[in-house]
Amino acid sequence: MTTGPAPANLDMPAPVLELADISISYGGIIPAVVGVDLKVMPGEIVGVIGESGSGKSTLAHSVLGLLPESAQVSGKTLSLNGSNMLDAPAQSLRALRGPAAAMIFQNPMTTFSPMHTLGRQLMDLLWRERNLSKSDKRQMILKALHDVGLPDPAARLEAYPFHLSGGMLQRVAIAAALLMRPSLLVADEPTTALDVTMEAQILHLMREIRRTAGVSILMISHHLGVIAEVCDRVAVMYAGRIVEEGPVDVIFADPRHPYTKALFACEPALIETGTIRLPVIGSDVPRPVRVGCGFAGCCPQVLERCCVDTPPWVAVGAGNAPHHSRCHRSTP
Ligand SMILES: Nc1ncnc2c1ncn2[C@@H]1O[C@H](COP(=O)(O)OP(=O)(O)OP(=O)(O)O)[C@@H](O)[C@H]1O
Ligand SMILES: [Mg+2]
Repeated sequence: MTTGPAPANLDMPAPVLELADISISYGGIIPAVVGVDLKVMPGEIVGVIGESGSGKSTLAHSVLGLLPESAQVSGKTLSLNGSNMLDAPAQSLRALRGPAAAMIFQNPMTTFSPMHTLGRQLMDLLWRERNLSKSDKRQMILKALHDVGLPDPAARLEAYPFHLSGGMLQRVAIAAALLMRPSLLVADEPTTALDVTMEAQILHLMREIRRTAGVSILMISHHLGVIAEVCDRVAVMYAGRIVEEGPVDVIFADPRHPYTKALFACEPALIETGTIRLPVIGSDVPRPVRVGCGFAGCCPQVLERCCVDTPPWVAVGAGNAPHHSRCHRSTP
């Protein structure tokens, strides 16, 4: 019997979102995001965690095309449902992204205009659906609001944003995003502006919509508890790079990168409550570096080469699911 290269796994689903070697610069000497690789598979909830300034929102906004004009995105692949947006001409980007991805922002109060009723704003979102009558659209909206657990949806259509609590409004924002029937929902700190009870409800809803609407979710958060609660996999960002990535339970049980270990060592008891903000580790906000490891200046295990050689992306851990760490000390 001859052995050859393993055949491509034709049963393997294609990723909904794929980033390969993505760097994003706001014009500074060193990019805010450096060489990021990340995939989100169908129906998966992937978390991105990192302290303030690590590049999480920059990454999220690049997927939705929401970066300011000053930002430059470069790299190999930034694809949604298989269409690489780095190759696409500017005029077709909106058509590619529009139906594929939707975003939930941190503050639901700024998601909607204060000037119009929620019903009108949700109706406006359906402008593409030219084949539907107004009453069909109204039914779609009522169902979407019902699906996100909003009590008395019909009455809410007449309400203005300020009539609803932050948690209720975040439900409406999720309903609005789902009306677009996206393959991917990008949620940037969706519960940071909410109190703990509302946060728990919204996190529960995120899991529910993954199950019922089959949507994949990229969840950006400062909170280890939020990531632990809803995500299947997590990517840990530090100074613009992903320094560790793998299944949530594996990384929480066996973190390999010194930065991830330092995060978990901070306040395990508080982390479990899901309410803390990530502390800044070291004396300063992390600054991206072009070569070497951005964490070298704060790392208790630093080696000489950490400052001059960019660490490799090493497969670590004994489990079957991929777990990687970007550290010179990482061993399988
Ligand atoms: N519009 C902008 N123009 C210039 N620099 C920016 C802009 N937005 C972000 N940056 C810089 O890019 C880096 C990453 O910022 P980003 O907002 O992506 O971080 P973050 O991880 O989302 O932080 P936070 O947790 O505070 O939201 C920071 O150094 C920030 O100052
Ligand atoms: Mg942010």
